[in-house]
Amino acid sequence: MASILIKGGTIVNYDKSVEADILIKDNKIEDIAKKIKHEKAFKINAKNKFIFPGAIDPHVHLHLKTSVGYSADDFYTGSLAALAGGTTTLIDFVTPNRGQSWIEALAERKSEAEKCLIDYSFHMSPTWWGENSADEMLQCIKKEGISSFKVYLAYKDSIGIDDSTLLQVFETAAKNKALVTLHCENGDIIDKLRKDAIKNGNISPRYHFETRPSESESDSVFKAINMSKILKCPIYIVHVTSQESLKFIKNAKKNNQLVFAETCPQYLMFNDSVYKQAGFKSAAYVMSPPIRTKKDQKALWDSLSSNIVSSIGTDHCPFNWNQKEIGESDFTKIPNGAGGIEHRLKMLYSFGVLKEKITLNQMIELCSYNPAKIFGLSNRKGYVKEGMDADLVIWNPNIKSKVSINNHFQNCDIDIYEGIETVGIPETVISKGIVAIDSGSINVGNLKGEFLYRKEFKKNDFKK
Ligand code: URP
Ligand code: ZN
Repeated sequence: MASILIKGGTIVNYDKSVEADILIKDNKIEDIAKKIKHEKAFKINAKNKFIFPGAIDPHVHLHLKTSVGYSADDFYTGSLAALAGGTTTLIDFVTPNRGQSWIEALAERKSEAEKCLIDYSFHMSPTWWGENSADEMLQCIKKEGISSFKVYLAYKDSIGIDDSTLLQVFETAAKNKALVTLHCENGDIIDKLRKDAIKNGNISPRYHFETRPSESESDSVFKAINMSKILKCPIYIVHVTSQESLKFIKNAKKNNQLVFAETCPQYLMFNDSVYKQAGFKSAAYVMSPPIRTKKDQKALWDSLSSNIVSSIGTDHCPFNWNQKEIGESDFTKIPNGAGGIEHRLKMLYSFGVLKEKITLNQMIELCSYNPAKIFGLSNRKGYVKEGMDADLVIWNPNIKSKVSINNHFQNCDIDIYEGIETVGIPETVISKGIVAIDSGSINVGNLKGEFLYRKEFKKNDFKK
């Protein structure tokens, strides 16, 4: 593989920004210095541009099996869209059927992910607990390099778990120094409200929002924090959306409990007015938890700069209109989820950095450094320095673009960010030493994502 020399850009890491050249050899960063000379290397001029560590998306659902068919992006189209947006690593999920061996489900998922163009890993989802589950958890950690376990406290009739299973998961994970990630919504409250709504003829998408109140989330966050504290298990709460949830998380952190929180761009970008649209349009925003109020949206932005929220994932889970329409006369049948794997950096740069809600270094911390650190990838990813994987984004801060289903790479006829104008693009994206995106043109010929073996999660790993 030819060496690549990136000249004159500003390298942006979570802790500092410096102007320097970068030499890439094979799939690693070989050298970083003020001025590097290398006659034979392929040269990229990065003057007046930023160089970021490739973004890591710790929360995506590619090729997710649901009652309306698979989510719209598979591992190929989803990873292509990720690359187009500057994301070079993703973490998806293994969701065993109840009663199915976790390891068997992992093998199936690995074969589905073979088409992935970028490096990837999985969180294992304990959807049930049996006599082999503790051994299977250990096997995931020691043999498979999977050190995070995602539980759902909603979706009680399918993949959600009850408190006694949750206790088993916390206890076994804590014993093995693993991390438990949680979808926090109180499934009982939601089930009741959904049944009541349908009984009363309230069938439109807006009732997805009405039947998942923010209290159903914060109640579940509160429980997760307390139960994990008792069992001394570190936790990571996915897609936090509400001000009340943030208060509980802030308090736990103040008490030195190892609690990480994630939010997603859609909760930062939108408010509940999206559910007041005419007709069936609001179905595009049917996701769980739902988009919240302006007050919650502001609290989320504030939580980014105050380190309450440590990570931003996309929860990428797009569905096409023909899939959403299955719930046209019953909102409970609308598949939950929306796409966004492609837009995370553009949204955060335009509406976070340029609006001075976060700094550029904080954006890198939230989208790259912290996800790498929390999920055991920081020996290879999340920081631009010698010896790391050559996953890099050359960011042109001056170019404007507009989101449209006509030019996005996501394989979906819905884009919740449709029409939004942004400033700054990932002009060149290098994935493990290969220029995958060059001024918007795609070159994925030689790319092959690799399943990442992650390091065991250790509490001490997370020190800043
Ligand atoms: O609505 C969502 N978030 N869909 C994806 C699955 C999940 O709950 O994370
Ligand atoms: Zn999700």
